[in-house]
Amino acid sequence: MLYLENMELLGNSIQIKEINEIIRQVAPTDISVLITGESGTGKEVVANRIHELSMRNSRPFITVNCGAIPEGIIESELFGHQKGAFTGAIETREGYFEMADKGTIFLDEIGDMPLATQVKILRVLETGEFMRVGGNKSIIVDVRVVAATNKNLAEEVIQRNFREDLYFRLKLVNIHIPPLRERKADVKILFDHFIESICERNGIKFGGIEDDAINFLTNYVWYGNARELRNFCESIVVLHPGKKISLADVKRNLHNDYDQTRQLPAVPLVTKDLTEKDLIVRALFELKNDIIGIKSILLEKDKQVFSMHDDNDLVIHRDRIRNMDSEEIDKEILSYLLKLHDWDIKKVSDNLNQSPRNIYRKIKKYNLTK
Ligand SMILES: Nc1ncnc2c1ncn2[C@@H]1O[C@H](COP(=O)(O)OP(=O)(O)OP(=O)(O)O)[C@@H](O)[C@H]1O
Ligand SMILES: [Mg+2]
Repeated sequence: MLYLENMELLGNSIQIKEINEIIRQVAPTDISVLITGESGTGKEVVANRIHELSMRNSRPFITVNCGAIPEGIIESELFGHQKGAFTGAIETREGYFEMADKGTIFLDEIGDMPLATQVKILRVLETGEFMRVGGNKSIIVDVRVVAATNKNLAEEVIQRNFREDLYFRLKLVNIHIPPLRERKADVKILFDHFIESICERNGIKFGGIEDDAINFLTNYVWYGNARELRNFCESIVVLHPGKKISLADVKRNLHNDYDQTRQLPAVPLVTKDLTEKDLIVRALFELKNDIIGIKSILLEKDKQVFSMHDDNDLVIHRDRIRNMDSEEIDKEILSYLLKLHDWDIKKVSDNLNQSPRNIYRKIKKYNLTK
């Protein structure tokens, strides 16, 4: 589906207000900008905004998805080539840098750019000059470079996948967009915006949303960030046209999303004595700090391994445990439940539908301690 999005960076959070302020300050200059943030946080929106608010806005804005262009042709795509430069180069061709002259080039997913090309980008940034592939004269362009990545470029530098000099050159102005789960104040405004544009595009009427349903969405952990919220809005409004959306509708839709995308089947959790959602959430956060096994993953990934579904089901985030084998997962689940039930073996065995004997055996096997 084609999205003709309003390219304004919407948000009521302090973080988005600050980002909008930085955009306003840097947009009129020619300084290159590095935009970082998880997938779906709005990096492309920021890049567009910088161009729109600059003096270059009547000139081209060219997006290059560095991760999607095969290594063998990326330089000819970026810098063009001379006729005969390689087999198949039947005529001289301009690259994206020439096309973007006096405008802006957006190097998306720059973390995936080959090292050999990175050095050429650094040269363009410093001198505005480059050569076409197979060419022998320098071409000078006036292009503003905006780059984005969802990778940790500092880490990529350590791993020698990214050049340190280019990294330092780019990060002079770094706009970092925090994940949506850290900007809860933005959920409602984004929800309204997505619903409005989806309804307008599809000629659907929106019947409103109950307060408890929007509160639930505000506190929901959107690992796919604004994009996941937008996809959610699309399915909910298409499935319930004209109807006031309830909390149950929301939960049903989020369930579908879980099942289809990235989560393992939920493990039923009996939490009769922990019915308050707040208590459960707090327990999860305490758990985050307490369990060493999970902590090491959190330190590495800075994300939760588990979260709680409605109905008090335990949800395991598949993307967080991708590198774990089934035994490690089993161990994590057991540690989690032991902590949750304060080492009440009976409750843990009920949860897992396994005999207490089996639980004791595993505690020993995994060397788990209180
Ligand atoms: N603050 C925002 N205001 C308005 N729309 C937003 C905002 N943040 C994200 N969006 C919308 O959410 C969707 C995802 O944003 P975008 O494509 O810019 O994310 P991204 O960070 O570039 O993701 P990726 O790393 O996967 O490329 C788009 O439809 C975009 O318009
Ligand atoms: Mg993007």
